[in-house]
Amino acid sequence: MADRKRVLLIVAGGIAAYKSLELIRFLLARGFAVRCILTTSGAEFVTPLSLAALSGDKVYRELFSLTDESEMGHIELSRSVDLVVVAPATADILAKMRAGLADDLATAALLATDKPVMVAPAMNVRMWEHAATQDNLRVLAERGVHVIGPDEGPMACGEFGMGRMTEPGAIAEAIDGFFGAYRRLVGKRALVTSGPTFEAIDPVRYLANHSSGKQGHALARALAAAGAETILVSGPTQLANPAGVMVHNIRSAEEMLAACQSSLPVDIVVCAAAVADWRIKNPAAQKIKKHGPNGKGGGAPVLELAENPDILATLSKSNAQRAHLVIGFAAETESVVQHAIEKRRAKGCDWIVANDVSPGTGTFGGDANTVHVIDDAGVENWPRLGKEEVARRLTLRIADHFKKAEA
Ligand code: C5P
Repeated sequence: MADRKRVLLIVAGGIAAYKSLELIRFLLARGFAVRCILTTSGAEFVTPLSLAALSGDKVYRELFSLTDESEMGHIELSRSVDLVVVAPATADILAKMRAGLADDLATAALLATDKPVMVAPAMNVRMWEHAATQDNLRVLAERGVHVIGPDEGPMACGEFGMGRMTEPGAIAEAIDGFFGAYRRLVGKRALVTSGPTFEAIDPVRYLANHSSGKQGHALARALAAAGAETILVSGPTQLANPAGVMVHNIRSAEEMLAACQSSLPVDIVVCAAAVADWRIKNPAAQKIKKHGPNGKGGGAPVLELAENPDILATLSKSNAQRAHLVIGFAAETESVVQHAIEKRRAKGCDWIVANDVSPGTGTFGGDANTVHVIDDAGVENWPRLGKEEVARRLTLRIADHFKKAEA
């Protein structure tokens, strides 16, 4: 196992466990060393013999086995690897991880590990949608656990929906991507904007947009995982603060700009926020009355708008504090690439990541994104990917960029 990256694969008890056999093959093909823990319920679906034969290593099963403990206890087992992957991650094991239970070898290893943890959830759609599961996932993500998938599709139980484990090839690719960028941005400072902005009309009303912040938050997470000191300036979202990231919560575009400027200097800027182009010129100090002053009826109010500062264009201006790499996003509904090329020139950023947000693409608020990365060298068309994967690949590209620039 000398210089190969080592993955501890925990196979929990779900019908998707058979896919973990394929995952082992994909990981070995990519040069990883794989060691397995099989839970008792996992053993109902795959045999220890199959896992051992494929991984070429002993399969660990018992928390209190004299032989296992003398050879390698759960502490050492969980720390002698570079990454712990739970695939399939059942609703049950996710709940145990969230609660910090350690009543078998798998959960004890997960509690004891000091290594990054990745989970690939797999369960019935109703179990996936249950508030308890969603809450557990949110807390785990907040603690820095990397979540891959799940995917949508027909399920073994005959239902259709979210909950299918991500295909083994894609999980292996995500693991590769994780190691690809792993610690490559140590020593760099990154600033990411995310989410919508809220522009006040009066103390209770505002203008906003549908941005979920998922792509921006995923980017902050991926940059932090790559070792960059990461600052996230976020408009209001439903998302958890990414672990290990300094977060500034703001509401308006003007507040976003101020928070960004106070974070300078940085090496990398990624503007993924959907900033409102306009704000209300003079927001009312008191709630505007439906029937006008004193209830006499004044008709609908007329809102005068003022242009918001363009944060990306401001941070792209060349001056002593300009980041080495400034990246913008361009959400377009037609002529996506052409408009993005023009936007890159107009804003003065180095790269622009263009995405199609037309109705029906599911990009706004959804978990997947189809992007085109545009820089001096031209246009790269990426396949449809999860937003986490887009973030990981972009982080890898950023790390490659610095490697070339500093060679
Ligand atoms: O002009 P448009 O809004 O399409 O540009 C999108 C890009 O510009 C995104 O990267 C977005 O974060 C950034 N932007 C900004 N400040 C604005 C408007 C857009 O940073 N006021």
